[in-house]
Amino acid sequence: MNDQSQADVGVFGGSGFYAFADEAVTVDVDTPWGAPSAPVTIADVGGVRVAFLPRHGTGHRFPPHKVNYRANVDAMRALGVRALISPFAAGSLRPEIRPGEFVVVDQVVDRTWGRPGTFYDEFEDGPVHVPFSEPYDQRLRRVLLDAAAEVGVTAVDGGTVVVVNGPRFSSRAESRSHRDSGWHVVNMTQAPEASLAAEAGIPFAGIALVTDYDAGLDEDPEVEPVTQEAVFAVFEANLGNVRALLAAAIPRLASL
Ligand code: ADE
Repeated sequence: MNDQSQADVGVFGGSGFYAFADEAVTVDVDTPWGAPSAPVTIADVGGVRVAFLPRHGTGHRFPPHKVNYRANVDAMRALGVRALISPFAAGSLRPEIRPGEFVVVDQVVDRTWGRPGTFYDEFEDGPVHVPFSEPYDQRLRRVLLDAAAEVGVTAVDGGTVVVVNGPRFSSRAESRSHRDSGWHVVNMTQAPEASLAAEAGIPFAGIALVTDYDAGLDEDPEVEPVTQEAVFAVFEANLGNVRALLAAAIPRLASL
C-alpha cells in the first residue's frame, strides 16, 4: 500500500449498501486474517478520506456468520482509519421504533456463536482483555445524531442491539425474550464487529436502519413477521437517507 491508500474514516456497508462514493479508488488490502469481504474503495467526502467496505462482499456473498470480521476490521486498521461507522439493517423489538427510522445504538448484546471474534487467539505478548463497557464511541454517536437532525431523519438516541447468529430470523419466543430483556433492535452483524474495533483501538459507531418488526408485535397482530424481501425493500427505500446521513456526518469528522 502507498499513502494514497490511507484513510481517515472507515464505513462498513450492510445489506443493500454495496457502494458509497462515485469517484473512489479501489485498493486491495490483505491482512493476517485473510482478505476482507471485498476490495476497499477510498474516496474524498468533504475533505475526509473515507474507506468503504461492504461487509457481506460484492453481491452479498457472505452470510452474517461467514463474514471475515477480523479481516474487515484489520483492513480498516491497516488503512489507518481513526473512526469506524457501521450502518446495519435491524429489526425493531418495540412499536415505538418504526421501520425507516434510525437508532444510534449505545449498547450491544452478543448472542452469536462460533464466529472468530478476537485478534487475540494467542496471548503471545501477555494477556489482552480490552474494556468493552462502552462499545460505541460517544463522540461519534453525537456526530451521527447531529447529522441526522441536519438532514431531517428520525434517529433514536441510544438503544441496545442484540446480535443473533442467523442467517435465520428469530422465533416469536426468541423475539419476545429479547424485548423482555429490555433490548431495542436485533441484527446479525454487530458482533463481533464492535468488539474487534475495540480490540483494534478504533472508535466505533453503529447506526441501525430499522427495516421490520422482527417476529411481529404482540400489540398489533396485523404486523407481519420479517421476511428477507421486506428487509431489502425497506433498506433500499431508505438508502438515500443512509447516504445523506453519512454525507452530513463525515465532514464533521475532519478534525478527528
Ligand atoms: N436485520 C434486519 N432485520 C432483522 C431481524 N429482524 N433480525 C435480525 N437481523 C435483522
